[in-house]
Amino acid sequence: MTVWDPVQIVVGVDGSEQSIRAARVAAGLANTQGSRLHIVTVVRPPEGWWGVVGSPPPAEALSASMERAQRSVLDKTMAAIDAEGIDVVATEEIGDPASALSAYCEQVGAGLLIVGRRGAGVVERLVLGSVADRLAHHAPCALMVVP
Ligand SMILES: Nc1ncnc2c1ncn2[C@@H]1O[C@H](COP(=O)(O)OP(=O)(O)OP(=O)(O)O)[C@@H](O)[C@H]1O
Ligand SMILES: [Mg+2]
Repeated sequence: MTVWDPVQIVVGVDGSEQSIRAARVAAGLANTQGSRLHIVTVVRPPEGWWGVVGSPPPAEALSASMERAQRSVLDKTMAAIDAEGIDVVATEEIGDPASALSAYCEQVGAGLLIVGRRGAGVVERLVLGSVADRLAHHAPCALMVVP
C-alpha cells in the first residue's frame, strides 16, 4: 500500500557542497519514486529592490551578473547529479530563500522538500543554517534535511 507518494520533489540549491549532496539524495529518491524533481535556486534581491510598489519585479529585471551566478548554480548542480531517467525542472526564483522555497512548494504541490543542513553561508557556529531552520518550522510539506 502506498501511504506516501511525493509526485513532486523540490530541492533547494545554493551552490554549496551540502546543497549538492541534498540534490543527489533528491535525484535518487525521485528516481525510485518516479517523481518529478524540481531543482530550485533562490536569489536574494539587492537592498531596496522591492521599492515603493511593494511587489517583486520580474526575473528579467535582475542584473545580468546575478542571473549568470544563479544559472551557474543550477548548471553545477545538474552536472553533479545523476538525472538519467528523471523528469527534472531547474528553476530560478527571487526573494527570501525560505519563503520563496515554501511558495514554490505550494505552487507545484510538492510532497517533499529537501535541503542541506547548512549551505553557502560562512557562519560556522550554526548547527542548522537559517534557511533550513526556517523551513523546519514553516515548510508547507514534508522536509528532509541532508547532513
Ligand atoms: N538561496 C537558496 N536557494 C535555494 N536553496 C537554498 C538557498 N539557501 C539555502 N538553501 C538550502 O538550504 C540549505 C541550508 O542552507 P542555509 O542557508 O540554511 O545554511 P548556511 O548558508 O550555512 O547558513 P546561513 O545562510 O544562515 O548563513 C542549503 O544546503 C540549500 O539546500
Ligand atoms: Mg545560506
